[in-house]
Amino acid sequence: MGTIHTGVVKLPLTVRDMTEADLPELACFYPGHVMATMPAELERARTGVVDHLVVCTPAGVPVAKGAVNWDEIPGAGVISTLSVRAELRSIGIGTVLIQASEERMRARGLSRSEIGAEENNPRARALYERLGYVVYGCEPASWDEEKPDGTLGRYETTCTLLRKDL
Ligand SMILES: CC(C)(COP(=O)(O)OP(=O)(O)OC[C@H]1O[C@@H](n2cnc3c(N)ncnc32)[C@H](O)[C@@H]1OP(=O)(O)O)[C@@H](O)C(=O)NCCC(=O)NCCS
Repeated sequence: MGTIHTGVVKLPLTVRDMTEADLPELACFYPGHVMATMPAELERARTGVVDHLVVCTPAGVPVAKGAVNWDEIPGAGVISTLSVRAELRSIGIGTVLIQASEERMRARGLSRSEIGAEENNPRARALYERLGYVVYGCEPASWDEEKPDGTLGRYETTCTLLRKDL
């Protein structure tokens, strides 16, 4: 059996607003029906109600995406739709994205950040709690999801609501 070599790479990441040019790469980790909403989301971002943020490698390749909604809860920014490319999860990229989102909130003078974690997603909830978020409630939620046969179905769930004072 050959020797296994190991190495550690320090990866500088950039967080910036999503553009049309990011869409082909994002399609690698968002399903088609979500990608179909992206042009309208870019338009919403131009009106200022939402920021769509992507985390990029030094080559400019987006490897994670999330949104900060500005008009959902008065006085707070609401982080949603976080997704890190599957092969690159659990190495700190989600943390970088959440911290960058909080920076944007502070820059607007907001003092609270909010985020939701689906009830059956304890790892996401643990991450948010590790970053200082505190559970304050729960609410029913639903969204379209692609079924194995390719058709869309409504997925019903419950989300735990967390918030953090900035
Ligand atoms: C949830 C999600 C956005 C978090 O992003 P992430 O990049 O995986 O998060 P982080 O790496 O910053 O932190 C999460 C984990 O990495 C660990 N971690 C963070 N930084 C680390 C580092 N430098 N070295 C080693 N481990 C680290 C954390 O302890 C945590 O542990 P876990 O693997 O047991 O969960 C991502 O996993 C994802 O896209 N999941 C699928 C979609 C989803 O669930 N979205 C959230 C909806 S609420």
